[in-house]
Amino acid sequence: MGFQKPPGTQDILPGQSANWQRVEATAREICRRFNFNEIRTPIFESTELYQRGVGETTDIVEKEMYTFTDRGDRSVTLRPEGTAGVVRAYVENKLYGEPDVTKLYYMGPMFRYERAQAGRYRQFHQFGVEALGATDPAIDAEVIALGYLFYTEVGLKGVRVELNSVGTPQIRAEFRSKLLAFLEPKRELLCKDCQSRMDRNPLRVLDCKKDQHHFEGAPSILESLDEACTTHFEQVKAHLDAMEIPYVVNPRMVRGLDYYTHTAFEYKAEGIGAIDTIGGGGRYNGLVADVGGPDQPGIGLGLGLERTLLLLESQGAAQSNASIDIYLVALGEAAEQEITKLLHQLRLAGIAGERDYLGRKMKAQMKSADRLHARYTAILGDDELAKGEIALKEMASGTQEMVKLTELAERLLRS
Ligand code: HAM
Repeated sequence: MGFQKPPGTQDILPGQSANWQRVEATAREICRRFNFNEIRTPIFESTELYQRGVGETTDIVEKEMYTFTDRGDRSVTLRPEGTAGVVRAYVENKLYGEPDVTKLYYMGPMFRYERAQAGRYRQFHQFGVEALGATDPAIDAEVIALGYLFYTEVGLKGVRVELNSVGTPQIRAEFRSKLLAFLEPKRELLCKDCQSRMDRNPLRVLDCKKDQHHFEGAPSILESLDEACTTHFEQVKAHLDAMEIPYVVNPRMVRGLDYYTHTAFEYKAEGIGAIDTIGGGGRYNGLVADVGGPDQPGIGLGLGLERTLLLLESQGAAQSNASIDIYLVALGEAAEQEITKLLHQLRLAGIAGERDYLGRKMKAQMKSADRLHARYTAILGDDELAKGEIALKEMASGTQEMVKLTELAERLLRS
């Protein structure tokens, strides 16, 4: 009997790691340019943090959390998202005491008990940023631009930005009654999900893919905004225009988490089965206070890394693992010893090298070199060893030359 990974989880195998590392390196590089610094928070937090932060009536808190009681009888939850933990750390470590806006980023696994499908897992990875301490619409636009630049620089095509304003909690409450008045007569026509959302979170009904044809003439949240909200929204758009970030306004887009106020946005692209949202975020001006901190505003985003990688693959933009520089082949016992020394010297010099550890014949070793896409192979036999030289072959061109053992590193670094 063998073991299998839990449903909805994935092994990221060595053959896939080049792509993961490239995507993660791009995220870090973009954060460097935008002056966001990394924060690492625990993978589990108190359950109450998510109940208060993410919201009691969200799908995440109602159905999707990995919650358990630890040996100290505390209820803890594997993080279903990153914002609540970052905000908790911001408050607990009094980062709000610093004079500048706090700009943070994170990357790592998140956990949601969801029905697994292409692009939807129970353990998945997010790259997220949070900017705390400013209400300036310029920072809303900057966060949206950061995510857009990330997708562009990893090489994705066809990513759309959808933008909306979800106003303040008061505005949403008023809009909620208007919307319910519109939806109530249609209740029986709507899908099961919509019917249950009408009772729990009616704003999300408008986001349903199946029932769009029933929503003609539905009230729009944008028309319910007050002057301050409208001005903020207009300014976010103006800053996006200034950076030439393309977007479409979608007044029906509502995010799945409760903490949003004002700006809400999603990144969308086709290519992962039924799923088209690859990232999203928004402003959360009440969250810091909701989890016991001072009245500080925030805005951030979370981008799914699996979805990014799936799309890269479907667009043919995924890469194979990096090749090595050289594969060293030893013929004979004396040469074996020398190769140990030589390979270590090459590695000290920054060169990526490999050798055989299985006592295989030369032909099998050359096949390994091929599989590893070695740029060079070098063969050391007794004769060469006596002369202090090695036969170096460039695999692409097939050209061979004799190189002094003492000069091999320099020769490779020059190529
Ligand atoms: P979210 O929309 O719940 O937002 O998740 C952000 C992204 O995480 C999604 O767009 C998707 O790419 C990825 N994701 C979510 N669930 C799964 C899953 N089960 N499998 C694979 N990928 C998934 C948040 O989490 C907010 N914390 C974003 C944010 C940060 N808002 C403000 N700051």
